[in-house]
Amino acid sequence: MKVIFFEVPKAEQSVFSQSLSVFEVAFYEERLTENNADLAKDADIVSVFVDSDVNKNVIDKMVNLKFIATRSTGFNHIDCEYAFTKGIKVSNVPAYGSHTVAEFTFGLILNLSRKIPSANAYLRETLNYNYLPWMEGFNLEGKTLGVIGTGKIGKNVIKIAKGLEMNVVAYDLYPNLAFAKENNFEYKSFAEVVSRSDIITLHAPHNKENHHLINKENISTMKRGVYLINTARGELVDTEALVLGLKEGIIAGAGLDVLEGEKQMQNAKNSGVEIGEDIKNIIALNRELIKMPNVIVAPHMAFYTSEAVASIKQTTIENIKAFLSGTPINLVK
Ligand code: NAI
Repeated sequence: MKVIFFEVPKAEQSVFSQSLSVFEVAFYEERLTENNADLAKDADIVSVFVDSDVNKNVIDKMVNLKFIATRSTGFNHIDCEYAFTKGIKVSNVPAYGSHTVAEFTFGLILNLSRKIPSANAYLRETLNYNYLPWMEGFNLEGKTLGVIGTGKIGKNVIKIAKGLEMNVVAYDLYPNLAFAKENNFEYKSFAEVVSRSDIITLHAPHNKENHHLINKENISTMKRGVYLINTARGELVDTEALVLGLKEGIIAGAGLDVLEGEKQMQNAKNSGVEIGEDIKNIIALNRELIKMPNVIVAPHMAFYTSEAVASIKQTTIENIKAFLSGTPINLVK
């Protein structure tokens, strides 16, 4: 039985090799893509993270493949539907980051509301220890937070917001009314959440149905001066519309841990791979976003704490062992 891990830095490989020592285990630091899928052509099991691109062609190259263990919550980097048609099972790590990502979401919100990164950059540059008019922020207390997606992460975001005495409105395809009652917030329609909120934060997975959930049409219905936070997936937001919304002043600022086309952006940087015009356009827009003073972009690191990394490793090992024992757990359906 051959297990191949991608996207695991050298320093993090030993925990997997020790726990799975009865199997043949190999590691690559790089992402799994069409360019290197031959490395896994005899794998029975592959384990990847979010920057791999496990599409049809990659799956077809792994002729023995039985199981994909992604070390993430999201699984939109894997063509699961296609994998299932070939009898390949997929597991994820459902719950490692629900506090971790919720805390980071508020890191972004507070950095925007209180301008901490720009004030700090100014101080470093000038050593001028004074606060200036442009550093004036705003209170979160009493503001309305719109939460799109009230799953594990969204729920923790709501609890933190309530601790800060914010009003919360939320939208989810499957509202959890008991949780809403317990935490004193209301579910509203998507359109209402988008148009009523002072800050909108996204916590839904990306799929075909909600691609560009935030777009030109609904940005035009937002409150002038709204802030947009995205720690979910870049593809939920039409980047061109976001840049326009920021330029027009409808959106006062954005906190983004994820970007549309982030994988292709890495590709372009790392390997000089040819990329299409549409992606070139998105990459150019992303670079514009990164440089905007009222936008904070982080390199998809909301999950990245020592506690979450340990939990990811532990659950992935349990997922692989459970699959091998014939009683798989944490299967993507
Ligand atoms: P979850 O599965 O517990 O919750 C997702 C919620 O979104 C569910 O309640 C679902 O009903 C809802 N939903 C699905 N489609 C929707 C739509 N179109 N509109 C409104 N709600 C919708 O997932 P969890 O753990 O809360 O994670 C949410 C997302 O956060 C993940 O799918 C992943 O994309 C992202 N994530 C990002 C990380 C990062 O490092 N930036 C780390 C972990 C997750």
